[in-house]
Amino acid sequence: MTSTPPITLALSGAAGQIGYSLLFRVASGELFGRTPVRIRMLEAPRALAAAAGVALELQDAASRLIVDVEVTADPRAAFAGANVIILVGARPRTVGMERRDLLEVNAGIFGPQGRALGEVAADDVRVLVIGNPANTNTLLTAANAPDVPRERFAALTRLDHNRAVAQLALRTGVGVAEISRLTVWGNHSRTQYPDLRHALVGDRPALDVVGREWAESTFIDVVAARGEEIIRARGGSSVASTATAIIDHSRARQLGVREGDWTSAGLISDGSYGVPEGIVSSFPVRSVDGRWEIVQGLEIDAFSRARIDASVAELLDERAAVSALGLL
Ligand code: NAD
Ligand code: LMR
Repeated sequence: MTSTPPITLALSGAAGQIGYSLLFRVASGELFGRTPVRIRMLEAPRALAAAAGVALELQDAASRLIVDVEVTADPRAAFAGANVIILVGARPRTVGMERRDLLEVNAGIFGPQGRALGEVAADDVRVLVIGNPANTNTLLTAANAPDVPRERFAALTRLDHNRAVAQLALRTGVGVAEISRLTVWGNHSRTQYPDLRHALVGDRPALDVVGREWAESTFIDVVAARGEEIIRARGGSSVASTATAIIDHSRARQLGVREGDWTSAGLISDGSYGVPEGIVSSFPVRSVDGRWEIVQGLEIDAFSRARIDASVAELLDERAAVSALGLL
């Protein structure tokens, strides 16, 4: 057994589909490498029995990395001293819904959880929000934890990024490792903008390889509608690919990305690229010493500007909607 001190991970929605998939990958070291983990499973009261069952299975995994598992319905107990908080607990959408339709039903969860984590989490806490609508739920969480540095909050858009990388690789017949410098901008919704303008396929500009027409229509449509395609195909929203994206996001933050490359994450805007300060938008990001930073200096042409602005307009609408609900 290693002598590295354990990290404390709090996971909400731990008995749900994504939680169930993610926890066993944590147990096998995919999230924190060889660092041991204390797991705090936060669940809604009605799902505590199921969460206790998952905890039994975690024992049965006999992981050398898991030093403790607790199950609770109290956010303060779950977040006390937590170094990493992953907020999955929220209702998923079903066929025919947009993620935004979940605003009213899910938004009430994130304010109180933000308050609790702001009061009791570890000084170095990092918060990743998955529950939809993920960007606006991140905004609510952060607004209720004003003493936690803003760069510690992120909304998961790595799933969209991975989808975009996979589609470009499929189209061009290369391996995914050949794809770099792709960005997903804006909201984790139909208005998101998967952007190939700066992307490379090997060392060739992606636009030269695939052409503008595909890049500006089919590619964007397929990536932005992929969540819905999965719901229709499997009768429930993405689970295992989401767990993979959570791991990819977290490892990229801990370990960095390849030289010259970047990934995508939803961060609280500092006004970069004309995205209004304070809203949570997906950006090109890389991590520096474990902190997310927005990659600066990319040229934004008229097409990109219009797509980013459209997604930003939706984010501003969502912010106004939670504000009208008295949650912000
Ligand atoms: P699920 O219904 O299987 O699990 C959700 C779990 O959250 C349930 O066990 C539920 O009891 C729990 N929960 C509800 N309220 C809670 C609260 N107040 N505190 C703690 N736990 C609570 O759903 P899922 O498939 O795991 O998806 C979870 C969320 O993640 C959904 O909102 C879904 O839309 C979203 N999602 C986001 C992405 C992304 O890329 N950002 C990808 C996939 C799914
Ligand atoms: C996804 O992108 O798969 C998730 O956000 C689930 C959904 O509602 O689409």
